[in-house]
Amino acid sequence: MQDSYGNEITVASQSALDHYDLGVRSFLAADYGAVEAFQAAVEHDDSFALGHAGLARALMMSGQMPLAKAAIERAQTLAAKLDIRQCQHVECFVLLFAGQPQKARALVKSHVRDYPRDALAAQLCSNVFGLIGFSGEVGREAELLAYTSALLPHYGEDWWMMSMHALSLCETGQIDASMQLMDKSLALNDRNANGAHFKSHAQYEAGDAAAGRRYLSDWLADYDDRGVLHGHLSWHAALWALHDGDAAGVWAAIDAGVGPQAAKGLPINVLTDTAAILYRAELAGLSVAPERWSGLSDYAAKFFPETGQSFADMHAALAHAMAGNGDRLAYIGDTAKGFAGDLVQPVARAWGAIARQDWQAALEELVLVMSSTERLGGSRAQRDLLELTYANVLLKLGLTEEARRSLTTRRPVLAAAPPIVGLGAQP
Ligand SMILES: [Fe+2]
Repeated sequence: MQDSYGNEITVASQSALDHYDLGVRSFLAADYGAVEAFQAAVEHDDSFALGHAGLARALMMSGQMPLAKAAIERAQTLAAKLDIRQCQHVECFVLLFAGQPQKARALVKSHVRDYPRDALAAQLCSNVFGLIGFSGEVGREAELLAYTSALLPHYGEDWWMMSMHALSLCETGQIDASMQLMDKSLALNDRNANGAHFKSHAQYEAGDAAAGRRYLSDWLADYDDRGVLHGHLSWHAALWALHDGDAAGVWAAIDAGVGPQAAKGLPINVLTDTAAILYRAELAGLSVAPERWSGLSDYAAKFFPETGQSFADMHAALAHAMAGNGDRLAYIGDTAKGFAGDLVQPVARAWGAIARQDWQAALEELVLVMSSTERLGGSRAQRDLLELTYANVLLKLGLTEEARRSLTTRRPVLAAAPPIVGLGAQP
């Protein structure tokens, strides 16, 4: 038999395969329901190795790690006697679950050279939070573009791969091309949350706030709040509201879908998105209640007690600094490890300096990271947290023209009306 991407697959019944294909489609669209679909697939055929692997991946992305680990172990046992494509497919996930991202990335990249339409395996290296996105390497955005450029011709009129390539185009500054391809992808499947997500990014990069806010608000109305991107898309909605000067809209979006009290998504999204929007709100002149910061600091300490996920660590440090939790902050600043731990350490020290309004010390730490912020992970829109922070530090030091020049040269889309009190935003 063959899966919906034309890969030979070992499965005992058509009904098991149908549920598997449904799970793949749901997972690639970041829709709610992938776990249930893969679960149904393995209920129809308990010996279905790739069904168990798909289930493991979907469980992982819904935050159910113990069940996910059990599923990948079952897949590994079953895959041993299958063909090389299915064996390697499972091995990619085994390496991921074993906490070996470099080996997983290398295997995925070589696997898709032989099996480019093995979409679930290919997905591991795609997207912003994928194995390339979190490689910690300089130039990882260009690497992602090269990766999706090589895969795209193998996928024909496929909405998922188009949306992944459109994302790569967006993050390397090719905004018009990204928007065109994303609209083509969304015309094929307008409920692909990855498509709606990076259409929002393209609109952000184009500075198209009014249309962006309208589009996302309409799209989110029909998106299941258990979907993996619901919290992050709510962050985008909060950001649109902030750039629109709508303070009530910012808090409504945070409290409905972003913050620890509301979000049902992965802890990395809850932490990073909440920290970023709270600090960006402060920069734009909104006042943030201290309990928001202390609640987030507690959340970060609970879900990320040890360092290692550099993008999360950078935001945990911000929450700890703003909450006045010096011990937690110092731990990150002194010990951060992970794919960009060497950059997390100065960023953490910068947050501490900012919290005590030592702007010169903050500047001295931030200049160590501004030349290679992509190593920290995240989209350009997410890393604008650092761009805006850096500009604000310059402003506080009286270097107003340098602050403007920094935005104009590094992030021109923010330069016309910087969302910073004293540079553009009204307090
Ligand atoms: Fe995003």
